[in-house]
Amino acid sequence: MNPLEELAQLLAQAVALIGEAASPERLEPLRVKFLGRKSRLSEIMSGLPALPVELRAVTGKQANQFKASVEAALAQRRQVLGVAPAKPALDVTLPGTAVPQGRLHPITRTIEAILGVFQPMGFEVIEGPEAEFAYYNFDALNIPPDHPSRESFDTFFIDTPSPQPAKGPLLLRSHTSPVQVRVMEQRPPPLRIVVPGKVYRPDALDPSHSFMFHQVEGLMVDDRTTFADLKGVLEQCLKALFGAHTRTRFRPHFFPFTEPSAEVDIACAACQGAGCPTCGRKGWLEIMGCGMVHPHVLKAVRYNPAKVQGFAFGMGVERIAMLQYGVKDIRLFFENDLRFLSQF
Ligand code: DAH
Repeated sequence: MNPLEELAQLLAQAVALIGEAASPERLEPLRVKFLGRKSRLSEIMSGLPALPVELRAVTGKQANQFKASVEAALAQRRQVLGVAPAKPALDVTLPGTAVPQGRLHPITRTIEAILGVFQPMGFEVIEGPEAEFAYYNFDALNIPPDHPSRESFDTFFIDTPSPQPAKGPLLLRSHTSPVQVRVMEQRPPPLRIVVPGKVYRPDALDPSHSFMFHQVEGLMVDDRTTFADLKGVLEQCLKALFGAHTRTRFRPHFFPFTEPSAEVDIACAACQGAGCPTCGRKGWLEIMGCGMVHPHVLKAVRYNPAKVQGFAFGMGVERIAMLQYGVKDIRLFFENDLRFLSQF
């Protein structure tokens, strides 16, 4: 038989046997049989130089093709036996891979709830800088240098290059009240704004203190805003946040930037005013500061205190969130522990 016919026959035989191989292990002996050193292919190759010239080239070519075809058949069968069964068909009844769902941070939720009370009442949301000039954080709010009430706003000061800016030095704002001044400086009355944002105070960390926390400031100024408006708006706000039956009380207080000033309490939800550990046995929880904008503040922004008046308030977001959600330690909000955050 001439080598060309023989190779054709061998190929048919090899492909058939490979196709019948029942496991990947059965393929190796077939490879050795058809392509190995002692195979018929190997003999034909080494016999090439002895062939008549006209047969030599075609036989060589045919032998190479034979080798390639057998290798391809082996590879294909290997895949069918080895890889393919490991790749199961799509089972549409299996549960899908769950994509973890993101959620808003509880502080963000509480801020949104607070803003959501004031926006329908016509208050515009405004933000201001966290690195602030002392002028806005103190002076324009009727807290002159050396005034003892600066001490109640312990402050992080920022190294400010000399010569100091006229409104310097720079500091991390200790409350959101400076934004009141910034806005009034820029706009004529009337105005109604709420200002959410971060504030900073060098307090040691404990269950109720953090060196960074959030406040929402409010300001309303026009020619006839009164303390009664302030009461109405804040009572509305606290009922929206803590429930329609929430009782509130306004207690006289002092803030340099308001006159008169008040602190607002809500009846403790845990004991309904009777006194319990949650409220320190007082029956009431202090929730925010407020008052009528001090004439000195109006003058600082070139408003005429004889023509306009307004109210302002400021509340701590973490404190409200802790009461809303029953969180006992403020530090939980900032530790970014998913076991905590995913509960909201
Ligand atoms: N800025 C005050 C604070 O951080 C809170 C405050 C009290 C804001 C009375 C006001 C206000 O606007 O009228 O403690």
